[in-house]
Amino acid sequence: MCPHEQTGPCERYMARNKDIALTLATSLDDLSCVTLSPEEVFGRHCAIVGSSGSGKSWSVTRLIEECAKHRSNIVLLDATGEYEPLAGGTFHIHLGEARRSDCSSLQATIPYYELSEADLFSIFQPSSATQWMKLRAAIKTLRLLQLQPGLGSHGTFIKAQKNKSSYDQSMSRRSTELERPDSIFNIHRLPLQIELECVDPIRSQSELDCWGGVNREDLSECLPLINRVEDTIKAPELAGIFHPPEGPSAFEALEKLITDHAVSVLRISMEFLPSTNRVREIIANALARHLLSLGRAGILRGRPVVLVIDEAHQILRANADQFAHRPLEAFQVIAKEGRKYGLTLCVATQRPRDIPEDILSQIGTFIAHRLIASTDRSAIEHASGAMDDSHLTCLATLGPGEALLLGAGMRDPRRVKLLAPSCPPRSLGPDYQKTWRRVTAPSD
Ligand SMILES: Nc1ncnc2c1ncn2[C@@H]1O[C@H](COP(=O)(O)OP(=O)(O)O)[C@@H](O)[C@H]1O
Ligand SMILES: [Mg+2]
Repeated sequence: MCPHEQTGPCERYMARNKDIALTLATSLDDLSCVTLSPEEVFGRHCAIVGSSGSGKSWSVTRLIEECAKHRSNIVLLDATGEYEPLAGGTFHIHLGEARRSDCSSLQATIPYYELSEADLFSIFQPSSATQWMKLRAAIKTLRLLQLQPGLGSHGTFIKAQKNKSSYDQSMSRRSTELERPDSIFNIHRLPLQIELECVDPIRSQSELDCWGGVNREDLSECLPLINRVEDTIKAPELAGIFHPPEGPSAFEALEKLITDHAVSVLRISMEFLPSTNRVREIIANALARHLLSLGRAGILRGRPVVLVIDEAHQILRANADQFAHRPLEAFQVIAKEGRKYGLTLCVATQRPRDIPEDILSQIGTFIAHRLIASTDRSAIEHASGAMDDSHLTCLATLGPGEALLLGAGMRDPRRVKLLAPSCPPRSLGPDYQKTWRRVTAPSD
């Protein structure tokens, strides 16, 4: 325990004139206690970096536990389920079906009808203007059919050669309901509806009020999109989104965090989600986008939220979407604009070089544990702008839990040892002594 933890604030690095202070570490130079205000840690986003086993998850836990003492609002995206022991005002949910009988968290869903249109575009990746327009039109038509099923047949609407008047009238009459973000539709009709949208806009110059016949050019351009949508909604690993089981949604859990003062931390475990098909990225992005929309609506102003992502390189991959028409960019937007809405990021990763540049460049505070690869060290040097050669060398030699603290209102990096959390994460490696046996030869 930090020697100053019980005796009051220490002099050197205390969070001056702030009522709320987070007791995080001990200085390795003079053994004084390192106490920072939430503004110093999260004011300009925070990153916890270091090789595997260097102490990141313990530091994340210590930081969260310190925040939770002060009625914080933390959303923790837990890639591996290692933060299950977190206690004290933590609400635990998991996504996907639990594969452990001792899993004590509540299963939550991310149903497709709670995703924004931008999320769906990120998932289906329309790759040309025509694909983009037809996808948009098909979703709009299906939303209208949800409100007015009698307009179509078998859940879809055939436009070819049809008079537009009743469709157009219904669209304008229902426009307010259709614009609502929670306006739902049957996604299982989407591939067919995209096909049905591929028609000529008019039958002839004298029949402007009727759609024309099938437009073969548009249809062949949309075929790859139709196949992609069909494959995606049938993919077993995405069943949790497109065939969601009964139960509360993760979005409801986010609202609980913000409205229920007894909950300081929402842990969202992604342990049971597949790592294929960009599932984790898509889901994390959807959660981040939802938080962003709450922030933009002014809801977080009185209850600021810190979004903590461990193993962030699995979710925020630099260059992963560079060719995509609609990249998964909610985290980049939070990095740039989140602060003014009361939303900040805390990312922990063993591969800082894989974090997109526009996120890394917005980080104000680094807790840098041991880093061996020179590319990772230079990524931190570049992003923090406050390290010299001696600091870079020091980074490679730090022991578990030791770190360089950069930013946080300090001119120079400080060598610190993070304090152990009360409920350490389950991040131990394999215990060979316990699990392996000495094989004795018959003659022994
Ligand atoms: N602050 C600390 N104080 C003491 N031991 C620590 C500290 N941080 C980490 N450790 C030790 O290092 C091990 C690995 O830490 P962990 O946080 O899981 O690393 P990472 O998340 O970087 O892989 C822990 O199981 C613990 O034994
Ligand atoms: Mg870890």
